[in-house]
Amino acid sequence: MFKSIRIQFVHPCRAQCAWCSTHRKNPIFQDLQDTGSALDFYDTYLRVIDAHRPKELFISGGEPLLDPQIGRFLTRAAELVDTIHLFTSYQFSRTAMSGIIKIPMPDCVILNHTPIYFEPDRWKKLTNGFPFEVYINNIRDAVQLSVRKRFKFIVNHSRLHEEIQRFSDYVKPNETCEVSLKLMNDQGDGLVRENMARSAHVVRSRLSDLDGLLTETGWTQTSRPKGSADLMKAMIESGDVNACPYRQEPLELRLSYAGGSGGRQVLKYRYCPYFPPESGHRFHLGRDPINKMGKNYHRGHFKDHCDRCRLTNYQTDQTDINQTNKGLKIIQ
Ligand SMILES: C[S@@+](CC[C@H](N)C(=O)[O-])C[C@H]1O[C@@H](n2cnc3c(N)ncnc32)[C@H](O)[C@@H]1O
Repeated sequence: MFKSIRIQFVHPCRAQCAWCSTHRKNPIFQDLQDTGSALDFYDTYLRVIDAHRPKELFISGGEPLLDPQIGRFLTRAAELVDTIHLFTSYQFSRTAMSGIIKIPMPDCVILNHTPIYFEPDRWKKLTNGFPFEVYINNIRDAVQLSVRKRFKFIVNHSRLHEEIQRFSDYVKPNETCEVSLKLMNDQGDGLVRENMARSAHVVRSRLSDLDGLLTETGWTQTSRPKGSADLMKAMIESGDVNACPYRQEPLELRLSYAGGSGGRQVLKYRYCPYFPPESGHRFHLGRDPINKMGKNYHRGHFKDHCDRCRLTNYQTDQTDINQTNKGLKIIQ
């Protein structure tokens, strides 16, 4: 039923990226590691993947490459899906990277990374001082591995061309590296909402020719894999949430840790990456059996909040996001 499943590895992420909020969950993630709940989650993920058999698996976090379970998990998951996308920040020590190099990576794995600017000064501010040299050297080491790497540049950045040029100069990508284009998304309760609204006009002007955009940047190495910019193009261009592919068919099942009352550790799930910040994960694994996780797609009213979809930030050029939903068309 679902083309992809996205899961969250609950290992703390050492990165403190200004555009991301998941590092705020580090103390909870550490607790899940210490108590063994992380292992239960990973077993549950495998059972969910086995039951639904998506073509693609996305592993986010936390920082999955630092999790001691990742090698074993990749081996088992590789038997169940065609492709595994693993997200990494490359923000860890050189010692950690020397361990990561030794993790056996099945052929179906692609290491995904979202580069931000590649400017040492800006980098320092945006990452709370993570050493730029360590970051770049980690990526250089990764480039030398045979595992495929995907670098997802953010289409909102006005200086995208310079960014991709600097990436090539610093990292010297080879044939194991590919580049795709993604949208900035508000993943942290309004953290980048204004940045999205401010760059809305850049995004809208670029969506019509993403291939051309990448060619203009001078990137010629391989064909461009589709990213969120491709997937959400029709909706952003039309301002019509009914054009959202996540509403049209069950595309993705997304699971992550969502706390629980009375010390209970709970996994929750949802069906889209652009849910309004305050609505969170709608559905509760534990209440719903694994083989019925598709049921709420049709019956659980997950589309009720589409009028407050995070991507509506691209419908305005104002930073006054109260105006965002004006003119938005929606039919349930
Ligand atoms: C939350 S991170 C967790 C996995 C891993 N630690 C990493 O950095 O890739 C997953 C992905 O979300 C991306 N991300 C975080 N905030 C974002 C934003 N505002 N817009 C687009 N992508 C974002 C990260 O760059 C990363 O590619």
